[in-house]
Amino acid sequence: MGEKRGSFTGKIGFVLAAAGSAVGLGNIWRFPYLAAKYGGGIFLLVYLILAVTFGFALMIAEIAIGRKTGLSAIGAFKKLDKRFTFVGYLEALVPVIILPYYSVIGGWVTKYLAVFTTGQGKAAAEDSFFDDFVSGIGEPIFWYCLFIGVTAIVVLFGVQKGVEKVSKIMMPVLVVLTLGISIYSITLPGAWDGVLYYITPNFKNFSATTVLAAMGQLFYSMSLSMGIMITYGSYMKKDVSIEKSVKQIEIFDTGVAFFAGLMIVPAVFVFSGGKDMDQKGAGLMFETLPKIFDTIPGGSVLGAAFFLLVLFAALTSSISLTETVVSFLQDKFKLGRKLSCLIVFLFCMLLGLPSSLGHGVWSHISILGLNFLDFFDFISNSVIMPIVAFLTCIFIGYIIKPKSVVDEVEIGGAFKRKTLFTVMIKYIAPVCIILILVSSVLDALGIMKI
Ligand code: PFF
Repeated sequence: MGEKRGSFTGKIGFVLAAAGSAVGLGNIWRFPYLAAKYGGGIFLLVYLILAVTFGFALMIAEIAIGRKTGLSAIGAFKKLDKRFTFVGYLEALVPVIILPYYSVIGGWVTKYLAVFTTGQGKAAAEDSFFDDFVSGIGEPIFWYCLFIGVTAIVVLFGVQKGVEKVSKIMMPVLVVLTLGISIYSITLPGAWDGVLYYITPNFKNFSATTVLAAMGQLFYSMSLSMGIMITYGSYMKKDVSIEKSVKQIEIFDTGVAFFAGLMIVPAVFVFSGGKDMDQKGAGLMFETLPKIFDTIPGGSVLGAAFFLLVLFAALTSSISLTETVVSFLQDKFKLGRKLSCLIVFLFCMLLGLPSSLGHGVWSHISILGLNFLDFFDFISNSVIMPIVAFLTCIFIGYIIKPKSVVDEVEIGGAFKRKTLFTVMIKYIAPVCIILILVSSVLDALGIMKI
């Protein structure tokens, strides 16, 4: 009896921890603006199809590799086949690129929390508020340095457990609040056109770029192709069903993203008539939410609560990203923990600078037509992560063979969709990833219009 309860806790524990890593700014901040930008319903449809095919297969693969080897990314690939160790290194590189710009967004969230707690919610609802803030120099820098500073201190003193404990309470509240605000948001006059835009696929808006954006978002949101799920898998007990866990994590993560989109996208139609949707960008959440809160009596308090919860979601993510980089520095270069934390902090301060200033004084500089923040986002989510995913498919499909993953999954129970898994990993996923990646990169370089 006691043992049974123990294993039950283990199952729930794994799903909660992995879902905790998966749900973050990706769901609340990134998904809604991409959905707005890439055609609403068509983006949602492509995302959902990818989640139950690509996402399912890749998450199964990563967790199984981790559990099979008991190691994190670099060690796991090395143990299974030395020639593929570089894939582990590529995975380790992703958090390094993401962390600085993640901190910039984390800084924006912190600023908005401060704005709402000091009763300036009304000012934040003004059209120019966000632009005025991000086009400044000192202020945005201050906020992201504060965010990464707090993250580094938490990691240095090893108090992640404390933050995780708090966030275990905060996360469900965030989900409930998101749900509540989305219901409120779609009842606003004029929201219905936005709801239709968000849920009705319009095939005119379809392109390879839509698929690449949805694929990048999938990796980002589900913490795939960045070594995170391999590490989580390495802590997973053998009697836990990988397939069931993946299903639960996916449903949870996609559910939160869907409602975050429903909270924000229709509101854009309410407040600006849904004009220039393809121009929407990283500021969308910050521009739209204060306007919603402004229409609610006591919206200031609600806004403060919301941004506090989002801040926790962002902190848990930045902490696990920092932890990944810090432990890499410690293992690889035998550096002390203090020095490793300091290096990560300084690195983020430095590399966060272009992402922060790219919305203001450096907004005239663009790489591939993108500002710095979007560029780092593009390189990690739309280039490196798809390459890692492609190599993972090749590695499993043709080197260690899908059967080794299937066997690992079957230790913890039946593997119902193993045929889907095998076909995805061996044929469909690698071919599609390459086609989408090549066409979109050619498009980004202006070589080919798609
Ligand atoms: N999956 C997280 C999100 O959607 O916000 C992002 C993330 C969290 C990436 C934690 C990496 C990580 F270690």
